[in-house]
Amino acid sequence: MVADAGRTGHRYTRGAIAFHWTIAAAILFNLWLGLFHESLPGNWRVMPVHKALGITVLVLSLARLGWRLAHRPPPFPPALPRWERTLAKTAHWTLYALMIGVPLSGWLMVSGAAVRRPLDWFGLFPLPFLPVGPSVGGAAHEAHELLGYATAALLLVHILAALRHHLILRDDTLVRILPRLRTSQPH
Ligand code: HEM
Ligand code: HEM
Repeated sequence: MVADAGRTGHRYTRGAIAFHWTIAAAILFNLWLGLFHESLPGNWRVMPVHKALGITVLVLSLARLGWRLAHRPPPFPPALPRWERTLAKTAHWTLYALMIGVPLSGWLMVSGAAVRRPLDWFGLFPLPFLPVGPSVGGAAHEAHELLGYATAALLLVHILAALRHHLILRDDTLVRILPRLRTSQPH
């Protein structure tokens, strides 16, 4: 049926969905903390949270990448042209690279700082520093800023693409990565 050309009936697995939305929420919050930490009230002391959450994102993203390499995502809607498939794949692999590169550059930056501040996981246990010096720390600082902005820009495109699929193309691209909500069964 032409009206259903965009629907495959395939869904992401529950594991992939959980990974996607847990990491998405953590990254969006951390982008906000990173971009606006200087304008937040000083007594919020947000940077230790930013660092601990960022290292959590790094660990989760490495696990997710491993998962992704072992699991195929559901097929694209059949009506999707080849150029759009290529663009989507490129954008997704770039997002994986940024999900790892951004927190890693942050960790390298604080490890190579001239004066190291304490690094811990939400005050529960200390986190190690990476064995790098100030020259790596300086380069990582630049990289963290640049990659952070690149992530914000690519995410904007990613979100607009998801909304285009849902609202304009009306295919199941967005729905298949949303957690399935239970509907009440008739008695
Ligand atoms: C920090 C935030 C986010 C990150 C890092 C992220 C990352 C990703 C990645 C890497 C994939 C590819 C999954 C695969 O391997 O197949 C993906 C898929 C997807 N994401 Fe996100 N995402 C984020 C936020 C969002 C948001 C807010 C939306 C919705 C408005 C969204 C909608 C989607 C959709 C619809 C897909 C499935 C695409 C497809 O089936 O081809 N994402 N996301
Ligand atoms: C999801 C992961 C992360 C994201 C999305 C992120 C994003 C950002 C962004 C956008 C900024 C502002 C850049 C600027 O305007 O200068 C920033 C600053 C910063 N980030 Fe991250 N970050 C992440 C993880 C980390 C990690 C793991 C660390 C350290 C362990 C870290 C340490 C810092 C520090 C110290 C700053 C302040 C730099 C300055 O003001 O000079 N970040 N982050």
